[in-house]
This record gives sequence, structure tokens and C-alpha cells, in this order.
Amino acid sequence: MADAPIIAQKGPYPVEVTAGKTYFWCTCGRSDTQPFCDGSHKETGLAPMKYEATEDKRLFFCGCKATATAPLCDGAHNTL
Ligand code: FES
Ligand code: FES
Repeated sequence: MADAPIIAQKGPYPVEVTAGKTYFWCTCGRSDTQPFCDGSHKETGLAPMKYEATEDKRLFFCGCKATATAPLCDGAHNTL
């Protein structure tokens, strides 16, 4: 069974994404390169979530790992 995600921070990480680029959002909360995966999920049973940007844009990636609209923040961090 997978370990529970931990809260990296109780708020989103703003990131300027680039159209056509692929990102790997950290689902486990253990990465040192938030909001993206650095491989620290090893042995947690969790895996990163792939996100492909379709336009150049500023996005707010979830830092609390409790969002229902992963990988983006949905405000759920306000209830933690
Ligand atoms: Fe996780 Fe906002 S940072 S829902
Ligand atoms: Fe968190 Fe990879 S380090 S999913």
C-alpha cells in the first residue's frame, strides 16, 4: 500500500509553464524541487503526475497535495 502524501507547503507554487513542455508534479510531497518530482517518492508507492502544458501560462501547482484538481490548486489548502 502507498504511503500518504505529506504537505510540502499549505499553498500553491506559481510556475510559468511553456507550451509543449511536460512537467512531473510531485504527488508525495517529499521532493526538494517542489512542485515537481525529484525522485524522492521512491519506496512510498506514490508516483508523479504528468502534466503537458498546452500554452505559455502561469499556473498554480498544488503544494499541499490535497487538491481535487491535481496537479493544480483548487483552494483545498485553506481547509487544512
Ligand atoms: Fe493544495 Fe492549494 S495548495 S489545494
Ligand atoms: Fe514526490 Fe516524486 S518526489 S512524486
